[in-house]
Amino acid sequence: MAIQPANRISEVKEYYFSKKLREIDEMRQQGIQVINLGIGNPDRPPHPEVLKELNKASSEKGNHGYQSYIGIPELRNAFASWYRQYFEVALDPAKEVLPLMGSKEGIMHISMAFLNKDDKVLVPNPGYPTYASVSKLVEAEMVTYDLEEELNWQPDFEKLEKLDLSKVKLMWVNYPNMPTGANATLELFEKLVAFGKKHNILICNDNPYSFILNDNPLSIFRIEGAKDTCIELNSLSKSHNMAGWRVGMVASNPEFIQYILRVKSNMDSGMFKPLQLAAAKALGLKKSWYDEVNKEYYQRRELVWKIMDMLDCKYDKNQSGMFIWARIPEQTESAERLSDQILKHAHVFITPGSIFGQKGQRYIRISLCSTQDVLKESIEKIKQNLLLK
Ligand SMILES: Cc1ncc(COP(=O)(O)O)c(C=O)c1O
Repeated sequence: MAIQPANRISEVKEYYFSKKLREIDEMRQQGIQVINLGIGNPDRPPHPEVLKELNKASSEKGNHGYQSYIGIPELRNAFASWYRQYFEVALDPAKEVLPLMGSKEGIMHISMAFLNKDDKVLVPNPGYPTYASVSKLVEAEMVTYDLEEELNWQPDFEKLEKLDLSKVKLMWVNYPNMPTGANATLELFEKLVAFGKKHNILICNDNPYSFILNDNPLSIFRIEGAKDTCIELNSLSKSHNMAGWRVGMVASNPEFIQYILRVKSNMDSGMFKPLQLAAAKALGLKKSWYDEVNKEYYQRRELVWKIMDMLDCKYDKNQSGMFIWARIPEQTESAERLSDQILKHAHVFITPGSIFGQKGQRYIRISLCSTQDVLKESIEKIKQNLLLK
């Protein structure tokens, strides 16, 4: 074809899940019932008051036009109150908070706002694949840093210090961590802030899992002076069962927020007002909401542990977030092969850890976003079609 796409897209592959979902769809078209335990897409609804607010606001006149680029004050105030109440962090709602359409878009906006071509960016391995693909799209030079089970999946600062950091501008971190489930600690955040300050590196903490299987949500801004060198992303996708609504936020000092806004305001024209009002309602929910959400995930987790036990996989029982991450047995050839076999024989899809980087090669990940019935059915299918064969 005469018209070729930009070179930058040859650097990024189709998102693994979009390819896998196609494969699963094809199997389903052949009449095979496939259970997908791959994706972290909350299956339960938002709080009824949130839905009520959306309906009410949608039927009001005057709520259907373009909205401001910086989000309505109600939503910015709600984010600031949420941070004050649950993270013990003070944010100026007018200047230090910017609502986003999900935290994922923030990864692109931050990268566009801060990275020049060939600037270096530290990306975790294993890690959320978007950090790597966005770094490639903005033509930055990616430097991966390993997360090791022995260090509880925290960065190895001694190793990092030995790297040539002179051209490193930004570092992606994500605690509670996806895919490993490692939780945040204040000590870790302290080290990250000190590392960022010492080397003039922007530390970006992607924090969408702070409320899932975790009673003590932490923000990197708990560390004194963190706003000078850090940015934090957060989201309602997981914490409020609102993944499809696309509501998130970025927080930092006013100057950094302005840089990000310069990018974002050239990309979209504000968020649907009823959605913002309903999101503000969600952010005002009491702690009992999170307890209720987690109650179900704790029960599901027991069933996922059973699957992992059946597959002889080893895992830490203190993981946070929406997944269970487990090490495959030594004799198993690879996580991809194990995942393919489970899909082929038991018709259950489990994510191989290799999609999160080479350090994930010996791991698999199961999502907690399926009902207990579906998880029980998965246990039966794996038992009958994989283990008893
Ligand atoms: C680590 C991480 N960051 C960001 C996101 C994106 O979340 P959102 O729905 O807020 O865009 C996800 C979603 O799965 C994630 O796992």
